[in-house]
Amino acid sequence: MDEKKTMLSGIKPSGDLTLGSYLGPLRHWPKMIEEYDCYYFMADLHAITVRQNPADLRRRTLEQLAQYIACGLDPEKCTIFVQSHVHQHAELGWVLNCYAMFGELSRMTQFKDKSAKNADNINGGLFTYPSLMAADILLYQPDIVPVGEDQKQHVELARNIVQRFNGVYGDVFKMPEPYIPKVGARIMSLTNPGAKMSKSENGDTGRVTLMDDPEDIMRKFKRAVTDSDTERCVRYDPENKPGVANLMSIYSAVTGRSFEEIEREFDGLGYGKFKPAVGEAVVEMLRPIQEEARRILADRAYLESVYREGAEKASRMAEKTLRKVYKKIGFVAR
Ligand code: TRP
Repeated sequence: MDEKKTMLSGIKPSGDLTLGSYLGPLRHWPKMIEEYDCYYFMADLHAITVRQNPADLRRRTLEQLAQYIACGLDPEKCTIFVQSHVHQHAELGWVLNCYAMFGELSRMTQFKDKSAKNADNINGGLFTYPSLMAADILLYQPDIVPVGEDQKQHVELARNIVQRFNGVYGDVFKMPEPYIPKVGARIMSLTNPGAKMSKSENGDTGRVTLMDDPEDIMRKFKRAVTDSDTERCVRYDPENKPGVANLMSIYSAVTGRSFEEIEREFDGLGYGKFKPAVGEAVVEMLRPIQEEARRILADRAYLESVYREGAEKASRMAEKTLRKVYKKIGFVAR
């Protein structure tokens, strides 16, 4: 009946969505609704692997939902939900913990990074994060999982789990493919082009959030780190000019212009003209999204109806998979 393939992706509400979240995954999502049966969620279970202020977590989860919709995710055409509202995630997450190996989990780059950054809180959840993420994915039997480069390793682990689990119990899970959009996939910090523009790290000046005021955006771009080379010209050279390359990636992702076109546009003009031009392009791109997000966020009844219906739809699919898993592994049916 339904010939569409399925895709799923989520973002942790552990910080405000950034320009990096938008130009990386988020912007590509609405187009996918036409082609795929899509599931999008706010990964609040994942967010608490790092301490969160409860009021902020709640606020950001709702803001994220409003921003998803404002970015073009029509809740009538896809399934948007809050991860903790669909209890099957935690349940399958436990089961998959028993099919993820200690050695495998120990090798995850994100675990190593986050342990280093949160040395006073290296909790079990941080370690088993990828099993929960595998559960998020496998519950919905998706064909593809759009993620940033940094999450590819986790999708690979989910694939290992599928192989291991299906090897024992037969074809229970569909093998998911990671999907990494090429252009603008990895936006770096404006102050430290060696690090990803993160929602929760590296201070405030290096990131532009989706809801930043135009003045803030312009200020951040004007102060963006360029490079100390002497030529001071806009040229794409990520090796030697990472700051300029990052700004060019942003400008390219926003305007659709190629790097050569951008080089020509700013030929002989230097960074003083280039940086505000990038800022302005970003401000104009975000303006309608910000207006729409504010309008949606003010309508609590609507937001509530969206996440309730989303959780209901998601649960139906998730329960089907979970029941199959429970049966296969030998749990007594309720
Ligand atoms: N781990 C992802 C991140 O930090 C968020 C996430 C959780 C996710 N579960 C997922 C992404 C399942 C894709 C599929 O960005």
